[in-house]
Amino acid sequence: MQIIHSVNEMQKKMLTLGKENMIGFVATMGYFHEGHISLMKESVKDNDITVTSIFVNPLQFGENEDLDRYPRDLENDRKKAEAAGVDFLFIPQADDMYPSKMTLEIIAKERTNVMCGKSRPGHFEGVATVLIKLFHIVRPDKTYFGIKDAQQAAVVEALIKDLNFPIELITLPIVREADGLAKSSRNVNLNEQERAEAIWLKKALEHGRKIVVDGELNPAKMVKEATKIIHDKTSGSVDYVEVLSYPELKPVTENDNSIIIAAAVNFNQARLIDNLIFDREGKLLR
Ligand code: PAJ
Repeated sequence: MQIIHSVNEMQKKMLTLGKENMIGFVATMGYFHEGHISLMKESVKDNDITVTSIFVNPLQFGENEDLDRYPRDLENDRKKAEAAGVDFLFIPQADDMYPSKMTLEIIAKERTNVMCGKSRPGHFEGVATVLIKLFHIVRPDKTYFGIKDAQQAAVVEALIKDLNFPIELITLPIVREADGLAKSSRNVNLNEQERAEAIWLKKALEHGRKIVVDGELNPAKMVKEATKIIHDKTSGSVDYVEVLSYPELKPVTENDNSIIIAAAVNFNQARLIDNLIFDREGKLLR
């Protein structure tokens, strides 16, 4: 596995390699866990060359968010990426990615006025901007995203379509701990009590889904009951619980057959998100 820091070097390399090879790309902010690794392994299986980037993108963090606290462990990441079969680990510096203030601004108009987009203004603009840059640098044929960040995957789908990137988006299921907690780099910022409580996110969402399985597709009731569970069982504060169509992220109508229930909960030092995507009968789609 080769490690590349320079944006220029990475772009030149991929311009050449991309002519004769299928390129798979996994964008990350590092501190790898099995969720990240599942994306890398799928890419290694599908492509001639797999590129993984590690870049904690300052543009997607709000002023009072955890940019400074975001966990980092490059040596461990290097070992894990190598073991997963990654060919290139791209680790750019912030001043190489953003050498000067951007002249253009990317604005996301749909799919971002709900869920995390509502509580993290500018977040998805930051994500879209860095991904456009990374797509131009790496020029992948396929790119792999986790459905853990379902809203992000919905925005990436729109970005690829709207801007005609010749890239196939592949989304993969949420990798969870044995007790159901979705794996996240941020889980290390939970204290012991919060870690024990955190299992109630998934349980609350499952309760919402069960209402559908039992025959009642009632978003307001699902939101109310799931919110109550998280409120009663954890010390975290509920940022949102929402039930929407997926990937459009609009209020659920009679015609929708792909529905997401998603939650974000703020603990002391970590904001956790989770979701389930299912059909009108409540059958899981992911
Ligand atoms: P990061 O949070 O590091 O996540 C990188 C990729 O790993 C994303 O596609 C995310 O959905 C996926 N992932 C994270 N946890 C997962 C889990 N438990 N199961 C499956 N997949 C999981 O998302 C970002 O970085 C950034 O916003 C980025 C896209 C790199 C842009 O800066």
